Amino acid sequence: MSREPRFPAGFLWGAATAAYQIEGSPTADGAGESIWHRFAHTPGKIANGDTGDVACDHYHRWPEDVALMADLGLNGYRFSVSWSRILPQGRGAVNPKGVAFYDRLVDALLARGITPSVTLYHWDLPQALDDLGGWANRDVAQWFAEYARVMFKALGDRVPLWVTLNEPWVVMDGGYLHGALAPGHKSLAETPQVAINLLRAHGAGVQAYRAEGKNQIGIVLNLEPKHPASDDPKDLAAVRRADAYMNRQFLEPVLGRPFPAELAEIFAEHWPTVSDADRRLIAQPIDFLGINYYKRGVTRHDDRALPVRAAEVRQPGSLYTETGWEVYPPGLTETLLWVRERTGDLPLYITENGAAFPDPATPVNGRVDDPLRVAYYQDHLRAALDAIGQGVNLRGYFAWSLLDNLEWVLGYSKRFGIVHVDYATQRRTPKASARFYSEVIRQVTDGRHPFVLPAKIPAT
Ligand code: BGC
Repeated sequence: MSREPRFPAGFLWGAATAAYQIEGSPTADGAGESIWHRFAHTPGKIANGDTGDVACDHYHRWPEDVALMADLGLNGYRFSVSWSRILPQGRGAVNPKGVAFYDRLVDALLARGITPSVTLYHWDLPQALDDLGGWANRDVAQWFAEYARVMFKALGDRVPLWVTLNEPWVVMDGGYLHGALAPGHKSLAETPQVAINLLRAHGAGVQAYRAEGKNQIGIVLNLEPKHPASDDPKDLAAVRRADAYMNRQFLEPVLGRPFPAELAEIFAEHWPTVSDADRRLIAQPIDFLGINYYKRGVTRHDDRALPVRAAEVRQPGSLYTETGWEVYPPGLTETLLWVRERTGDLPLYITENGAAFPDPATPVNGRVDDPLRVAYYQDHLRAALDAIGQGVNLRGYFAWSLLDNLEWVLGYSKRFGIVHVDYATQRRTPKASARFYSEVIRQVTDGRHPFVLPAKIPAT
């Protein structure tokens, strides 16, 4: 009889956030402007004219948020540092008040038994560096390493898990190719340069960590299975291109493997020759890989969808989230197994997983019921457990997100939190999904059978 899989001892049960999405006060206490601050204040860029000026006011309410996490029983918290709070000009002079904010946060987390995981870059480049070309400038690798060193020195003794970059693919695709995200460039020529510079910065950050840090460092990639819309050879070729563009473009070189051959086809004359020195820099050994999983992409050939010539096809029988993403839990198992084929026993973390569904704008009788999100978490946790059962070395799971927050260009119109935020009062109310997640954590840590995930959500 085969043993039922279990979440391993020491598993991190967390939630994740990002600086610009929750902190507010983006230029307080000597912080410099970031590209997201500039972008949000450019008319027409963010839905409803929303900005991160206040967001969840976490910059002031962090003690309450740490207490909330402790009450839910979380033992992990993944957050990002705002580079321009630390180095207002992106390099040079350090702003001690910026460092002090994260220093206090880390101490408060540790005091409550919550393991902090710091992401150094979750999309908010200092504006001063964008003025110099941002991610398109090769010097960005050294700027990033300089900033990373400041953080390693400040928090390295207390933070066990460091992440260089969050989702470099989104930075490249959204920020530099399609321009929907900050800094809003639209340049096919720049795009592959940006990808390589993001990877070089990651490598330079890992190198800096090896000189300073004693714990673990990795990168967070958003990965998703690309499935063919039909068995037409054109669709199959489109799947290979889409997979190369989104998944393998970043994973393979980080692991010291060649860049996917499809990139030369996608970027044509813009795909550069990557030097051996750059390849070596990019391939610094990492201690873990973080995977953000949200959806799969059923893909077909489409000549108009440049440069990849691949488009997604909606699945009539599937449930879609408010951001138009197909709910597809088996894709999480598939992704973890696919990564394991490439990384062997390297520890993996699910660093983000979650969904936006239409929640009530304000709690009803003090409650926010979000049954679709509860089901989403239940099914994805089962999928994660399934991967563990198949030998995946999964060490932790972080729900996206702890709080409803600024969903980038969608502003506050989409809610991903397991905790509801009333933006008028800043009142936090754990949703049914938070209570569900909390109960799962309690059961698993009590050593109860992890397959028996609670069917009933506790009332309080
Ligand atoms: C990002 C988050 C974002 C989430 C939902 C991820 O791509 O890391 O910042 O809020 O997806 O869109």
